[in-house]
Amino acid sequence: MFVGEKLTVEAIKRGLPTRLIGRRVIVYPRIGSTNDEAKRLAEAGEPEGTLIIADEQTAGRGRLQRLWWAPAGTALLMSLIFRPDLAPHQAQRLTMLCSLAICEAIAGTTGLAPVVKWPNDVLLRGRKVCGILTELGFEGPRLTYAVVGMGINVNVDFSGAGELASTATSLAQELGHEVSRLELLRAILVDIDERYTRLRTGKSPHAEWAARLATTGQRVVVTTPGEQLCGVAEGVDDDGALLLRDENGLLRRILAGDVTLRT
Ligand code: BTN
Repeated sequence: MFVGEKLTVEAIKRGLPTRLIGRRVIVYPRIGSTNDEAKRLAEAGEPEGTLIIADEQTAGRGRLQRLWWAPAGTALLMSLIFRPDLAPHQAQRLTMLCSLAICEAIAGTTGLAPVVKWPNDVLLRGRKVCGILTELGFEGPRLTYAVVGMGINVNVDFSGAGELASTATSLAQELGHEVSRLELLRAILVDIDERYTRLRTGKSPHAEWAARLATTGQRVVVTTPGEQLCGVAEGVDDDGALLLRDENGLLRRILAGDVTLRT
């Protein structure tokens, strides 16, 4: 019943009690990638807080050059522009706070119990329900903007989606009924607004994010762009890097990669 529910600027903004996030909303029925559009707007001076959201992406991108797939009208496909007063190495805090907001909003609107998988996936019962792609803009060494792109599988049906059927899930698949994208979106925007306000007063979301990570203490395989490492995920540092105790007992600091539980 919610597939085809219209996401309009008016519906998203009606009475939205945020200070910054979603004060300006741009909705596209169809676009290449909301991240690309958000970056274009950010480069052109768009203020922080602007939300770019689409019903369908024709060139949706994931981390590590992957594609992001979702049939029209079934997912939340969106990007937020931030202009944080952070050093580049602290920018992962934005991803942390967005993944926490998504977990809270999913739990609050559906009763499901999401967890975070390092570095920025949200999982339900071991399957991916949300991915986040954060991209940064610089002037020389200074961070001038960050675009946080979020893809949330709300009413996606993965049953006929080949390989994805075993690794991905949606809220509708978990619940057995469709979910309002609009209600979830508004809950996410409110939560991000609160968390970003706290971040701007100097409070890092790191401790809460670290506590939500599903992989801590587990034996894992980490696939990085250069190599594959086995070991125990001991934790994460302030900048969001994974601390892995490898098989030689060395503590490795990993900034980018994919984690799978070791069987
Ligand atoms: C990942 O898990 O690899 C990250 C996926 C991020 C997908 C979202 S969908 C909205 C935004 N626009 C994009 O092109 N990608 C992000």
